[in-house]
Amino acid sequence: MKPILKIDHLKKNYHDMTGELTAVEDVSLNVMDKEFIAIVGPSGCGKSTILSILSNLEEKSGGTITFGKEHCKLGYMLQKDSLFPWRTILDNCLIGLEINHELTEENKERVIRLLKTYGLEDFMYKYPDSLSGGMRQRVG
Ligand SMILES: Nc1ncnc2c1ncn2[C@@H]1O[C@H](COP(=O)(O)OP(=O)(O)O)[C@@H](O)[C@H]1O
Ligand SMILES: [Mg+2]
Repeated sequence: MKPILKIDHLKKNYHDMTGELTAVEDVSLNVMDKEFIAIVGPSGCGKSTILSILSNLEEKSGGTITFGKEHCKLGYMLQKDSLFPWRTILDNCLIGLEINHELTEENKERVIRLLKTYGLEDFMYKYPDSLSGGMRQRVG
């Protein structure tokens, strides 16, 4: 079976005023369909860097990344949520659709259904400030 994600000899160097730092060196792994994997290691070993490269937030310095499908949908939940404090919970959830010009009534209803699924129905019109950390992560 073909992996849905294949990482080969991934490398990442960061550069700043003080010089170069190798954050990821020669990481290779395959992820198969329906497989859950955890990347475990001490703080600063490069875990977030790998995820940032996979989601195109950082450029890799070497190696290859191959997705099994041409149009692969990738979700990345960051350690810290990035909710906009000036938007309600519902409006935070709609922002992706807004940016992609896909905010139809049907899509909005789907988002509201998802908010209900995650037990956030009563908080739809509240602001991120009034939610707990776990609730904010669920919104994210
Ligand atoms: N944007 C950045 N610029 C420079 N160095 C960075 C940057 N992000 C992470 N690093 C460094 O890369 C290394 C790996 O960081 P990171 O991927 O965040 O580790 P982890 O998620 O495993 O704790 C650390 O030494 C960190 O200081
Ligand atoms: Mg991290």
